[in-house]
Parts: sequence; C-alpha cells; structure tokens
Amino acid sequence: MFRDLFSLFDRLDFDDLGWASSAKRLVHGRGRQFPGFENVTIEWFPPYLIIFLHRPLAPEITASIKEYFAQLDRPQIHGIFMQTRDLGKAFWEILKGPMPDKPVVVREGPFQFLIKLGRDQNIGLFLDMAPLRLWLLLNSSGKTVLNLFSYTCALSVAAAKGQARQVHNVDMRKNFLTWGRENHTLNQCQGSFFYHPLDILKSFGRLTRLGPFDLIIIDPPSHQESFSLERNYARILKRVPEWLSPGGTLVLVANDPVLARDNFRSMAEQALGPLFQFLCWGDGPTIPLGTDANFPVKVAFYKMN
Ligand SMILES: C[S@@+](CC[C@H](N)C(=O)[O-])C[C@H]1O[C@@H](n2cnc3c(N)ncnc32)[C@H](O)[C@@H]1O
Repeated sequence: MFRDLFSLFDRLDFDDLGWASSAKRLVHGRGRQFPGFENVTIEWFPPYLIIFLHRPLAPEITASIKEYFAQLDRPQIHGIFMQTRDLGKAFWEILKGPMPDKPVVVREGPFQFLIKLGRDQNIGLFLDMAPLRLWLLLNSSGKTVLNLFSYTCALSVAAAKGQARQVHNVDMRKNFLTWGRENHTLNQCQGSFFYHPLDILKSFGRLTRLGPFDLIIIDPPSHQESFSLERNYARILKRVPEWLSPGGTLVLVANDPVLARDNFRSMAEQALGPLFQFLCWGDGPTIPLGTDANFPVKVAFYKMN
C-alpha cells in the first residue's frame, strides 16, 4: 500500500531548483491517486514539506507515514510537518524540525505568498488553485475582477500580476484581507485593489453597486457556519447577471471532495439559467487526477451571453 507513495518521494529530485524552488501539491489523495490515501494531501512549500491528513488514519498507517518521512533526508527540506484534522480541529506535529514561528514567504511560479504554519487548519495558500492563478496571470489584462470568498487574496495577486485594471476582494474575515493586502505588497502589485470585509450573503446590493465586472471568481468553502454549498451556492449564482458585464467570464470553484463534477455542473447551470454558456473545466494538468476524473477540485468556466 505504501510502496507507490513512498517511492514517489524516493524519486523526487529536490536538487532541481527550477522544479523544487516553487511551491506545489505533490500528492492529491482526494483525487484518488493512491489507493488507501484518499485522505492524504502532501504539499511542498519550500523548504517545508507538509502532510495533511484530512481525517485521522489507522494508527499503524499513521505510524508508517511518520517513520518514512522522519528519515527522508534532503538538504533542501528544512522541516517536515504533519497536520491531522479531526472534528473541525487541526493538530500539528513536527516530524523533522524546527517549525518556523513567523510567517514564511514561499514562491509559486512568478508569485510570492505569506504562509503561517503550526497553528490553523489553513495556512494561507491553496495549492490546488495554482492552475487558476496561472490562467488569471495570462487572462486578466485590463479587466475589472470580483474575487468572492477571497481569503488571503492569492487569486487577486495573480490577476494583479496579470495587469487587471481593478480587483475587488470580498471576505467576511478582516484579518484575511489584511493578509491579502500584505500579499499584494510582497508581489509589488500595481493597480487598484480593494478589500471589502463583508458577509457576501448579506451584501448582494453592495456588489451590484460595485460592478459590473468583466470577470467574477466564486470560490466558497464547502461547509462553514457562514456558508453551505447546498444551501447558499445557488442563491449567489442567481444574482451573478446583476454583477457581470455582458460577455464577461465567470469562474466557479467547488472543493467538496464528495461532490462529483457532473452534480456540481447541473446545480450551477440550474441556478445560472440559459444566459450562461459552459466553456470548460479548468482544474489543469498540475493537479494529479488519479483514477477518477469525476472528483478533482472543480473549476468551471462560463461566459455570459
Ligand atoms: C475556500 S476559502 C477561499 C479561498 C480563496 N479563493 C483562495 O484561492 O485562496 C473560503 C473563504 O470564504 C470566507 N467566507 C466564508 N463564508 C463567507 C461569507 N458568508 N461571506 C464572505 N466570506 C465568507 C472565509 O472567511 C474564507 O476566507
């Protein structure tokens, strides 16, 4: 069971700077890439390797993972940490130390982001969104962008580096927007960027007044007290025609691992109605898809006619 996963790390060339100096997801267990490891994600935030267990595994499996990674010895890896999620809480363990106690700057391609390790469940950067950041870099020039559920504004940084004319970031947590502002400064972004600390579900009128936008990104959490995919996604989608310019692009993201692509698409299209044309899926080749292509992170592109 462990052979394929561990041999991946035996093979990886951490000496190759072109490859190894950039943050990336290495194992996307939820994409059903390695049988038995559906709840394991492993990410490289140089110089740190982080193993996320989305739920606790059997003790003997956890022990084997710990034993393997504790002996993985490469000069480029300064720390290996494991985060276990259980009942809404995140527990961090050091497999190889030390754990940095200050924010760390990591590079992802042309971008830099601040991450914070050892405390919260989310560390500031979702690496499965790397293909979307690349798309934004290449396709945002001159556009006005609305980034809903912006978190630390990593998607906004990508649009800004792609010379978006304006980006409006909306998240209900002010501290994430402050972090987002720091990410923009770190990347020396030029342009007009706005940070709105709002509950999106209570701010539809405000969003109409800020628009219309050429490009809208909607990347909500799967389930939080403040948002439920089943209850709230369709409600937001029904309002998009008020916020988007005719001919504008809508990017929808859903991360729930048990939601199949087909179901996500039918929910979205039922709410959006005939004005919208599905263009393509955008999860990109950098996410290892594994054996079941119906369950990657879902990124859907639409055009409004
Ligand atoms: C999955 S994260 C977004 C990730 C982000 N798009 C990125 O690529 O880094 C979800 C975010 O939604 C925010 N959020 C949850 N419910 C919200 C609501 N009702 N209104 C505004 N923001 C909300 C959370 O604070 C969190 O930052």
